[in-house]
Amino acid sequence: MSIPPPLQLLLACLAVFSCRHFVASHQESGDWHCDPDDEARIAAEFRPGIVTLDGRADDWSNVDGFEFPLRPALDPDEDHQYKSGKMTVKALHDGKDVYFTLQVDGDYVYSKGDDHKCPSVALMFQIGDSATYHNMGGCKESSNTCNSTNCRGYEVDIMHFSIGNSIPGRLYGGNSVNSVGLVDMYSWNPHCRNIDASAPSGNDSTALNDWKGAWWHSSFSTHPGFIEDDSPYGSSAEKGIYYFEFSRPLRTTDLLQQDAQFSIGKSSKFSAAFWYPSDGNPWHGSAHYTISCDWIPMDVISGLTSQHKAASGNAASLFAFVLSTAAFCVSIFVAYMVSKNKSIPFTPIDDRL
Ligand SMILES: *[C@@H]1O[C@H](CO)[C@@H](O)[C@H](O)[C@H]1NC(C)=O
Ligand SMILES: *[C@@H]1O[C@H](CO)[C@@H](O)[C@H](O)[C@H]1NC(C)=O
Repeated sequence: MSIPPPLQLLLACLAVFSCRHFVASHQESGDWHCDPDDEARIAAEFRPGIVTLDGRADDWSNVDGFEFPLRPALDPDEDHQYKSGKMTVKALHDGKDVYFTLQVDGDYVYSKGDDHKCPSVALMFQIGDSATYHNMGGCKESSNTCNSTNCRGYEVDIMHFSIGNSIPGRLYGGNSVNSVGLVDMYSWNPHCRNIDASAPSGNDSTALNDWKGAWWHSSFSTHPGFIEDDSPYGSSAEKGIYYFEFSRPLRTTDLLQQDAQFSIGKSSKFSAAFWYPSDGNPWHGSAHYTISCDWIPMDVISGLTSQHKAASGNAASLFAFVLSTAAFCVSIFVAYMVSKNKSIPFTPIDDRL
C-alpha cells in the first residue's frame, strides 16, 4: 500500500514532533453534543512591561483571567472533567506582542524525553471565517484531497507545546534550533494538519514559527537556571500548578492563511487544550481536555479605553486653563513692574532685529 504524499508529510511531521496522539485523539465516534458557557471569554488588555516570558506566574497576579473546566475534547461531559482542577487562561498585549498564560493544577510528573508522559498544552485560533472549533477547522475534504484551495476559509492556527524535551524556565520556539517541543501548525481538519511553512503542494519560507514559550511548576524551588542534567527538576507527584507562558506578535508575516492575525480593538476566537499523563500512564485520546466545546472569544483591548480618553480630555482642558491664567497673571505683573520701575526699559521689538 502506498502512502499519498500529503499523508507522508503529515506522518513525517508527527514522527518528528511526537504529536501522534493529537491526531488520534480527534478520531471520533458517536454524536457531537455541545453546551458552551456563554459567559466564557477573555480579554487581552494593553499592559506593557509587566510579564517576562519565563514560565513563572507571579508577574500575572494582577491580570484577570478566566477559569475554565477541562472536559474531554471528544465527549465534553461534566462527569469526565479533569479532576485536579480548572485551567486559568490570561492574556494581555503590549501593542506589539500578545502574551498568554495557562495555569493548571497538577501533581508534578516528568519523564525526560517522553512527551506523552509529560503534560502538554495547545492553543488553537480561528483563521478562516468558516473554520469551526469542532474538527479543527471542519473542512470536509479528506487527507488526500484537502489543500489551500478547496479548504479555503477553514484554516485554524495551532500552537502545541510538549515539554518532555524542554527545561523549565527556558525559552523555546521562534525559528531557533531549540524549538523542539513548541510547534506552530495550521489545520483544515484533524487529518489535514501541517507545520507552518509546509504544505501538501510544497514548502514556503515566508511562514515561520512565530510562537515562543516557557513552562514551570509551582513545586520547584527558585533556581538561577535549570540545565538538562537537573531533570526531573523536582520531586515526583509533588502537588502544585503547571504554568505555561506564550507570546507571539499580534501580526505575523504569513501570506498563506497559516497564522491567525490579531487586531487591537477586535475580537478573535480561540481554544486551549491540555494533556496529562494520569497515574503515570502516557496520555492518549481520552486524556485530552479542552476549555470549551466551542470557540471562546478573546477581545484584544485598545490601550486607550473610552474612560481614559475622557479623563485625559478633562486633564488637557484643565491644563490649558491653568496655563492661560498663569500667562494672564504674568502679563499683569510685567506691566506693573514696567510702570513702577523705569530701570527696566521697554525695548521695542524692532530694536532687537
Ligand atoms: C486542490 O485540489 C483541487 C482538486 O481537488 C485542485 O483542482 C486544485 O488545483 C488544488 N489546489 C492546490 C493549491 O493544490
Ligand atoms: C519541505 O521541507 C522539509 C523540511 O525542511 C523537506 O524535508 C522537504 O523535502 C521539503 N519539501 C519540498 C516539497 O520542498
